[in-house]
Formats: sequence, structure tokens, C-alpha cells
Amino acid sequence: MCSIIGYLGANQAAPILVRGLKRMEYRGYDSVGVATFSENQISVRKGVGKVAEVNSAAQLDALSGTVGIGHTRWATHGVVTESNAHPHPSSSGELAIVHNGIIDNYADLKKDLQQKGYVFKSETDSEAIANLLQYNFDQTKEIKKSMVSTVDQLKGNYAFVAVFEDGTLAAARLHEPLIIGVGKGGYFISSDVLGFIEHTDEVIYQDNREFVIINSTGIQIFDFEGNPVQHQITKVSKELADAYKGDYAHFTLKEISEQPITILKAGDNTKLELDLITEFVKHAKNLYITGSGTSYNAALVAKHLFSKYAKIKIEPLISSEVQYSPNYFDHQSILIAVSQSGESADVLEAVDIAKKDGAKIVSIVNIMTSSLVQRSSISVGLNCGPEIGVAATKSFTSQLAILYKIADKLCGGCMGLDFNKVSESIYKILSDHSKIQSIAKKLKDISDIYVLGRGIHFPVALEASLKLKEITYIHAEGLPGGELKHGPLALMDSNVYVIIINPNDSTYTDTLASAHEIKARGAKILGISDRPNEVYDYWIEIPTISEALFPLIEIIPIQLLAYYSAIEKDTDPDYPRNLAKSVTVK
Ligand code: F6R
Repeated sequence: MCSIIGYLGANQAAPILVRGLKRMEYRGYDSVGVATFSENQISVRKGVGKVAEVNSAAQLDALSGTVGIGHTRWATHGVVTESNAHPHPSSSGELAIVHNGIIDNYADLKKDLQQKGYVFKSETDSEAIANLLQYNFDQTKEIKKSMVSTVDQLKGNYAFVAVFEDGTLAAARLHEPLIIGVGKGGYFISSDVLGFIEHTDEVIYQDNREFVIINSTGIQIFDFEGNPVQHQITKVSKELADAYKGDYAHFTLKEISEQPITILKAGDNTKLELDLITEFVKHAKNLYITGSGTSYNAALVAKHLFSKYAKIKIEPLISSEVQYSPNYFDHQSILIAVSQSGESADVLEAVDIAKKDGAKIVSIVNIMTSSLVQRSSISVGLNCGPEIGVAATKSFTSQLAILYKIADKLCGGCMGLDFNKVSESIYKILSDHSKIQSIAKKLKDISDIYVLGRGIHFPVALEASLKLKEITYIHAEGLPGGELKHGPLALMDSNVYVIIINPNDSTYTDTLASAHEIKARGAKILGISDRPNEVYDYWIEIPTISEALFPLIEIIPIQLLAYYSAIEKDTDPDYPRNLAKSVTVK
């Protein structure tokens, strides 16, 4: 997703902006650019590709000036080209902007501004902000007034930062993140704390419908009507600064490897919150759980846990679908929202619909400063540290761990949770990658993988197939074992690989029968199990653990398999094509 950074201070801006953009690379992007103000003019350099590539081709960090803005773009309006990359100067070049989000009324604004003589050079919606702000500045000759008029006329979701020709920065936010960093050497403004954490851990969380003006005399924050607002400076966790790969080849591998620890940290020090959530859930008339992608798969696991162990019915909702099925929620409803980032637009929208209808929101989230936390009555933190790899790995098992804790509280401790045992089991799986690496070589040239599981293992099969398709680009599909004969069996032949999630539990015999049916059609079988069987062409052993806990460990070898298959295919597991870490647009 687009990332924004701005800087005004005592140091050269461009190197700070480029480093900040590099630290936010994990959010996903296709092009990059920087603009600085120096000697009464604004200079822009930009290009298509990774920050390092564009920087070495266009010398972004050589721009001079102590004020500037930077951006990585994830295309929404307009193809991936240099002219569509940000920053976008206004037609006179007296200001330039960077933008994250979508301007719904850009076509009308563009037409109107073109009629007034403002020239557009890109296909983006964002350029409408630059020319609208310029138009309002031309009318008022005042930055504050021009910001008030501009935010009044823009429709959509946005965070934008503008640099003006007098060296002032101005930035506004509406439903997109924007955080101000207050450092000794200057001010920062960014979509993500990671953009400036190496310079300062003192931040101001700008609220929705607010804009900020930063110049050499200081910083002023206003609401969209232009009334001054005050904010406290707060400190963020220095742990965020930890977002380096260390000795690992990729963030994805580092994050997979952290799971024996992160599983133990999930929901740390949240006994009070977990007790409260348990009470809420017990008394809810209607109980829902929502998320997108991996977080939704965690929600599907929760459905099994709650019904099997706590005898409570919880309905999982795909966040992006909630808007099409209104009337789910009322004052007696609880919605549990699961999200790593806490910024997924689809999740926030589902939450807003539920809140409007009176539901109480409980969230399970990694980024405790996120928009989701602000919208929730109670939040429990995953505590797994920054997850940089675009594909969710450690956040999935941490989400599960918290959902397990809630289910266990609901049934009065009936699940006998032993997270130390889970942690040891994950260590064991991670202690030898060689077998998985050699299987990954076989997957290199295949075009279809199916992942099969029954009962609680079916959502894990869905999550496994999501990992495989995201980072290997191999078509992968999760299937409930029993559905095979209702259609998918037609696809089984010798070109197909099927991963069977088959721990030795109550689903074992039925799943084994499915494996035989597949084998009879010539497909290759890869069994993930604590019990060997001759039907498996390849067997990846997982430790035996109590039945409830298998989902927490059986996903690990498949995460590794997806990672090593990506390496075999020479794709970048950390930054899969077309995907973004934090999907802040609908
Ligand atoms: C999958 C993945 C995505 C996210 C989804 C929701 O590996 O990373 O499917 O799970 O975009 O993101 P969050 O959890 O941040 O709301």
C-alpha cells in the first residue's frame, strides 16, 4: 500500500526520506519518488521499481534541501509509470503532494480544474489534490485557508502531505493513517511509525478529520473546520526499530522462525482484557468474528474452537462481504475483529457497520496504535513484533493463540492449553529444514497444489493454500476432505500435488481415506502428520500434541514449504507481486 513520509528539520531531507521509504517497503509498492524544497523551488525525482533501484538510477537522496516529502506508490488509478508515481506537483509547480487512499470525486474535480486552466500530467486521482490545493492557495494566498477549503471539497479516504514553495509542510488525514514524529532535529510525518522510528520514538497521533501545518516556527494541528486542536506527545515502543532481517535471508524466514517465541508472547499481560472479553462473549446474544485473508482463516479456526470446546456459536464474516449483508448486528451483538495491521480498510468498514448498528467491538490486533484499536471497546495485542513479510506468518499463530485462550476461558480451562509444549513442537519442526527444502525443489515447476484438511484442519488448509499462492504464484486451493468426491476429484492426475493435513486425531481415518482416493488418480501426496503412512509420497513429520493444539503447529511446515518454493522459483518471498502488507484501500 502507498507509504508517505515527510520531513522538516535541520538535516538534509532526501537521505532521511529515502531511508524511511526503505523501512516501509514491506507495505508493498510499485514506484517511488521524493520532492524537496531548496532555494525557493521544489524539485521532484521519481521512477518505477524498488527504492534502491530508483535511488541508484535517479539519485533521489542527492536532492538538496532540509524539507521534503517522499512516497512509495501502490497503483490504484492509472498504470505503473513514472508520470503516475508521486510526488505530484501542481500545474504551476508551486507545491507538490504525496497521497495514500482514493479520491472518489477526482474526475469531477479534474474536469473543473482543467476548465479553470490547471494542467494534469498523470492518470492518478492524487493529482487532483495537488491542483485543488494550488487553486485554493491561489484564491486565498494562505496555507491554512487553502487546506480548509481543500479538505472540504475532497471526497474519499486519504492521507496527504504537501510541500509548499515557502518550505512549509501541510498534511491531512481522513480514514488513512498519518503519524507525526517529533524529533530533536526536526519533524516527521508518515503513514507508519517505521518511517521515522530510527530518529525519534516521540509521536503525535493525528486524528481523522485533522490537518497539520509544519514550518520552521513549529507545528499547529487543526480540525477540518480550521479550529486549533491539541494533542499529547506519546512514546512508541522502540521494539518497532527492530525491523531488520538480522542474519536471515528474508523477513519471511525470520518471522516463521520467531514463532516458538511469539506463540508464548501472544496476549501477554492481558488477563484483564481476556476476562472482560470472556464476559462480553458469554452474554452476547449474537456473536460474530471478522477479518480478511489470513486473519479470516484464524476466525474460521475460532469457530471450531468455540463450538467444540465452549459450546458457543460464533459466526465468521469475511470483512469485505459485511457491507452486502446488512442487518447482522444489534445492541446485543459482539463483533470480534481480527487483524494484524489494524488498518485493513475492509475490516474497518465491517467494524463501522457493526458499531453503527450498536454492536460492541473487540479486537485482536498486532499494531496497538492502529485505527482498529481506536474503534474497539477492548483490544488484545498479538505482541509478535513487526511483521514485515507481506505474507502473514507469525501473526497467524499469535491470532490463534489468543483465540485459543478465549475459548479456553469460556469453557473454564477445559482445553488444557500448554503453550510451552506448542513452542517446543514448533522448535522441533523448525530444527531441520532439509526435507522441506528438497520437496520445494519438486514443487518448482508444478502449476496446481491442493491442500486438504477436515474439521478444524480445513481452515488451516485454506491458510496453507493462501501462503502457497501468495509467495510461490502456484495455483493452490484448500479443500475440506469430504468435498473431494463432490467435484475436485475430477482434477486429480499425475501433474497434481496434494498436501494432506492429517494429524493422528479424530479426523485421521477419514482424511487418510481421501488420500487413498487421490493417490488412486495418480496425484502425488505430501502428508503432514505425526503418524507415517505408505500412502504419502512425502511425509513431513510433526510432533504429537493434544488434539486441540494441532492447528498451531501444522501450519509451520507449510509456511516453510511456501518460503523455500518461492526461493526455488526465484521470486521474492517478502514482497509478492501485486500485494501489499497493509491494505488500506477498499
Ligand atoms: C496473507 C495476508 C493477507 C492479510 C489480509 C488482512 O498472508 O497477509 O491476506 O491477512 O490482508 O490483513 P490484516 O490482518 O492486517 O487486517
